Amino acid sequence: MSKSAKLDLGEKQIELPIIEGSEGERAVDISKLRAETGFITMDNGFGNSGSCESKITFIDGEKGILKHRGYTIENLSEKSSFLELAYLLFNQKLPSADELTSFKGKITERSRIPEGIKALIKSFPKEAHPMSIASAAMVALSAHYPELTDQDLNDSQKNEIFPLLLGQFKTIAAAIYRHGQGESFVDPDPSLDYTADFLYMMKGKQVNPEIAKALDVLLILHADHEQNCSAATVRVVGSSKANLFASLSAGIDALWGPLHGGANQAVLEMLEAIQKDGGGYEKFISKAKDKEDPFRLMGFGHRVYKNFDPRAKVIKSYCDEVLEALETEDPLLDIAKGLEKTALSDEYFVSRKLFPNVDFYSGIIYKALGIPTNMFTVMFALGRQPGWMSQWRELVESPAMRITRPRQIYQGKTDEKL
Ligand code: CMC
Repeated sequence: MSKSAKLDLGEKQIELPIIEGSEGERAVDISKLRAETGFITMDNGFGNSGSCESKITFIDGEKGILKHRGYTIENLSEKSSFLELAYLLFNQKLPSADELTSFKGKITERSRIPEGIKALIKSFPKEAHPMSIASAAMVALSAHYPELTDQDLNDSQKNEIFPLLLGQFKTIAAAIYRHGQGESFVDPDPSLDYTADFLYMMKGKQVNPEIAKALDVLLILHADHEQNCSAATVRVVGSSKANLFASLSAGIDALWGPLHGGANQAVLEMLEAIQKDGGGYEKFISKAKDKEDPFRLMGFGHRVYKNFDPRAKVIKSYCDEVLEALETEDPLLDIAKGLEKTALSDEYFVSRKLFPNVDFYSGIIYKALGIPTNMFTVMFALGRQPGWMSQWRELVESPAMRITRPRQIYQGKTDEKL
């Protein structure tokens, strides 16, 4: 294959280098384009723009493949734990038994949150959206760990901040839930595994291990997803040399939107609306297809996947298992399955390659676990911590790192005078 591409701009021709990835993806490197021709590229929503080279996550959206550091998501969700995957993302390799024990120990040691963070959470109205508290608590942590607020953290500080933030955010997420319920906070129990401890702090009692296992799988499925809106945000903020707490807080904000992580909340609200309306999905499918109507089928479609989102397949199979373990039924699951079947045989969705994404079924599991709808996106944020931190680490360790600063084409008024 040619190692360069020729671009003919009429008045100027230029040869642009081609970069090839380890899984065969190809990119035209346009970094010298403006300097050599005066042109920039336009790419609304960055649908065709690579912002970095990365060794963390690979997605083949056409084939529905997701891999982290070479391992498929199906393999990881079946054989590893959330903490093993977190370690893999951050350290580029799976932990040995001793490394995993030491990693878990560090997280457990640092899981108690400062009193100031507890006070901050309590200062929010009970009705506040949990994502607003999550974002505020994350950035506020920087004031409690000032020694870790440098962009140029050394290796030992990086190895300290990663378990610290995994431990702290677990406790923060549980405390946010308790605050919304008007309940007092529960301290972490060092004898419990990560997910079991989170559920213990949330519920105030130990939960069935099968439930903790199901939630652990959900966290695995959310751990990273390459350059999505929130990971890209973490990198953009990190590129200004803002500290990791600020970068993660910005990632939480980006995740909150209903076109991104907030879709899990929107899906459940949509399923409940369909149920309230009598359960017929056709009306909602028609609304989603109507270009005059802003309504979209939430949990459907993806910028990268033009095939089944592999995470949605795993979650769908877990839905039945979790409801069975909890000896409960949820009519929303039947509505979701029916909606999926109808949409997947509808020309509108077929021709646009719109499939269920990770958010389509996750809410049904969260609901079965007794997690309120407005906490769903915090659950996503809990799972995404290792991904964001690994993306940040890769950014700050890259010799190619520069501040992110896109260009524009100005289309406003010219030569106005007062
Ligand atoms: N319902 C109805 N039509 C849709 C949907 C949908 N959910 N998604 C895309 N379309 C249509 C869209 O109207 C457009 O049609 P046309 O070509 O006729 O103009 C076409 O499909 C392409 O859509 P797009 O908006 O250009 O695609 P995008 O890559 O910019 O957006 C998306 C991707 C995920 C934001 C979008 O599919 C969407 O809004 N989905 C619903 C929200 C959702 O489930 N988000 C979670 C994403 S996965 C997890 C995560 O990222 O956190």
